[in-house]
This record gives sequence, structure tokens and C-alpha cells, in this order.
Amino acid sequence: MAQMRVAAASVPNDLESFWLPFTPNRGFKRAPRLIVRAKDMHYYTAGSGGPVLDGTAGLWCTNAGHNRDPIVAAIARRAEELDYSPAFQFAHPAAFELASRLAALAPGDLNRVFFCNSGSEAVDTALKIALAYHYVRGEGTRTRLIGRERGYHGVGFGGISVGGIVNNRKFFGSLLAGVDHLPATYSREHQAFTKGEPEWGAHLADELERLVTLHDASSIAAVIVEPMAGSTGVLPPPQGYLPRLRAICDQHGILLIFDEVITGFGRLGYAFAAERYGVVPDLIAFAKGVTSGAVPMGGVIASDRIYETFMRGPEHIIELFHGYTYSAHPLACAAGLATLDLYRDEKLFARAKALEPRFAEAAMTLKGLPNVLDIRTVGLAVGIDLASRAGAFGLRAYEAMERAFRDEALMIRIAGDTIALSPPLIVSEAQIGEMFEKVARVIKAVA
Ligand SMILES: Cc1ncc(COP(=O)(O)O)c(C=O)c1O
Repeated sequence: MAQMRVAAASVPNDLESFWLPFTPNRGFKRAPRLIVRAKDMHYYTAGSGGPVLDGTAGLWCTNAGHNRDPIVAAIARRAEELDYSPAFQFAHPAAFELASRLAALAPGDLNRVFFCNSGSEAVDTALKIALAYHYVRGEGTRTRLIGRERGYHGVGFGGISVGGIVNNRKFFGSLLAGVDHLPATYSREHQAFTKGEPEWGAHLADELERLVTLHDASSIAAVIVEPMAGSTGVLPPPQGYLPRLRAICDQHGILLIFDEVITGFGRLGYAFAAERYGVVPDLIAFAKGVTSGAVPMGGVIASDRIYETFMRGPEHIIELFHGYTYSAHPLACAAGLATLDLYRDEKLFARAKALEPRFAEAAMTLKGLPNVLDIRTVGLAVGIDLASRAGAFGLRAYEAMERAFRDEALMIRIAGDTIALSPPLIVSEAQIGEMFEKVARVIKAVA
């Protein structure tokens, strides 16, 4: 008989069992980067490791900074009161309160909030709501979903299908059927070293007209884009691009979904990028910053029109067959409410907006350093493209990430050979200077 295996204190706490996500596991396990504590703008490593400056707000999520006392206290209080209650057929009051607060932050008639637990779930939820919306209003032929090249929409099958990153797609079979893609909005030739939204590129929205001509509007349910593509290297939208996309969608009865998982909650100086760009989508997918990363949470904010479309039929019948065990989890709602209070009380979205010029100016000081091909800034985010090492795409940025952590006590994010920085919105001007000085030394070190 096989010996029963019991998890006990005698099990070695080695590095083997944990399969790290989106990480080269062998390299990591040879030289792990272990974080044990965090506060405000800094992480602390094991042993006597000093503060590591967080240049990336975790994974674009700790917008209010780390371990903020009011958020920690709210989570602790809620854990004592209510660990869990189901969101199917039952609810707890904080879920309604958080939904109302989010609706108040969202533009236009985006007033209905569906909760889930991550950005990936938020995207798949938004896509499903879009498909079901057309179905219930009797246009069930609208099943096609349009994404964009270089888009990142998480790792669910919906998200990778509409996403435009080859490595996130090529291993995973046939994905969703009936998906097409707009071209990416980036052109180094026309946009290099732009602060904010580039002048060139609005015409790329017209590619949607081409797809409508190809597939016919009657087959298209929705278009999903990140207002600013974050994960593939900070690609701000060209001036006028998003309004043009909105107009084409309106003309053809296509829903417009903004994936604001990164751009929501102040990254671009507003509650949502929709506000910065003066465009109201039909659905917003959000996550990350809603709890400042402290408890997993995501969601979708839908227009009144979409919600009302579902509110028909017998009243004892579920209107949308979708949801998660942990939708509107009590700890996430508590964290969300405390986080929104912090954003409001410390005016963190306005702070990001006010810091944007200083941040952009500091970022552009890297221009001219070895291998720097482009720098793009928008809000409190920057993408810095480095020239690849011969025959080893991604290696130079990987080395930069390693060196930043070990030699400069700075956490940066990398995508291919692009460095991305997106600090918590509480970053000081001095810390912005410090961050770019550290990055400059790193870029020279990996030359
Ligand atoms: C725009 C966008 N959508 C979706 C996601 C997926 O979020 P999660 O990792 O929480 O599933 C991300 C994550 O970075 C993102 O940037």
C-alpha cells in the first residue's frame, strides 16, 4: 500500500514544489528573489535585506502603496466579523456599498458592477456579458469578438483569444473561435520618444471598418482594448484613436469594452482612463488597484442599458448564468472600500496627474543611454525599449531586472526587452529621481 503522505512540519520548505507563474523557474530557483515584508513604497527581503524601492506597484496593483494601515485594519476587522458569505442568492451589505462607490467613479451610465477575483476573470466576464447581451436582445448572430495585437487581457481562454501576445496563445490550442484583431497602435518610426499620447496613429482605428466589411456587423459582438496597452510595454493610445473606435462601434451596434485592469484607479491620473480620453465604453473590466492589491478582486462595470436588457422574463429565473464562489468576497469588499477611501482622502488620482510631467521628464533623461531605442510615458507609467542582445531576445532586460534588484534595490518589470515602471501613486518626487538614477546605472551596467 502506498505510504500516506502527510503535510507536516518536517516537510522541507525547499524551492521545488512551487511552480512560479510567468517566471523562468530554473533561473529563479538558482538565485531566488524573496520578499518577506512591504510598507508604503518599499519591499524588504529575507534576513537583513534593506528596503527595495517598488518601481512597479507590485504587478501594477498596489496603487495606494503597500500595507497601508487603513486597508490592513479593514481586512482584519472584516475577517473577524464575516469570513465568507455566498454571493449566489445571498449578499452582504459591503458588496452593495462598494458597487455603488465604483459606479459613482465610473463615467456616464456605467452603473452596474459584477464582481469576480482577477483581471482575467473580469475580461472573460465582460466578453460573456457582451455575447449574452446580444443573445437576449435577439441578435444572437453577434458572436465575433475583436481584440488587438499586443493586447494583454489576462490568461483565461477568452482573454488569450482576444489578446495579441503570441507566447500567451501559441501553446494553447485553438482558443476561442471567431476572433479577429485590430493592429497594434505602436510605430517606433512615427512615435519614438513621445511623452503622453502620440500624434500619429488615430487612423488605425479605421481598421475596425475593414473588419466590419470583412465579417459584417451582424456577426460582431464587441471590441476589447486596453486604453493604454500596459503589459506589452506601455503603449499610450494615439490622440483621437479611442473616440474614433467608439464612433465606429456606435455606427455598427458593436459593444466597446475597455480593459482598465491596469489603467483603472489612478494610473493615468483619473479613476478610469475612459475619463482621461473622454470616451464612455459599454463595459469596463477592472481589478488590481480596486483593493490596491491587498486582496484579489476584479469586476466589470456595465452600462444601465446592458443591465436592463437582462432584467426580463420570470422573476425567479437567474438573468445571467455566470458568477464565482468568491464574487464580492467580504475581505475583498472591505479592502476595496478602505482603498477607495484612501484614494479619495489622499487625492491620489490627482496626485498621479500632477506628477506626470515630472515623471515623464525624469524618464526622458534615459534617452541617449546605450541601447535605449524608445521611451514612452503616460500617467505614472513608462516603457523603455532596449536593443536585444544578438540572438537572445529578452536577455538584456532580464539582466537589467536582476541587477536592479540585487545591485540597486529597485524592483522593475520587464516584457521582452522592454523595462516598464509604474510606481505606487504615493511615490515622492525624490523617489522618482532615485528610481530613474538607478535605472540609468542598470542600463549602463547591461550595455
Ligand atoms: C490589461 C490587463 N487585463 C487583464 C489582466 C489580468 O489580470 P490578472 O493577472 O489579475 O488575471 C492584466 C494583468 O496584468 C492586465 O494588465
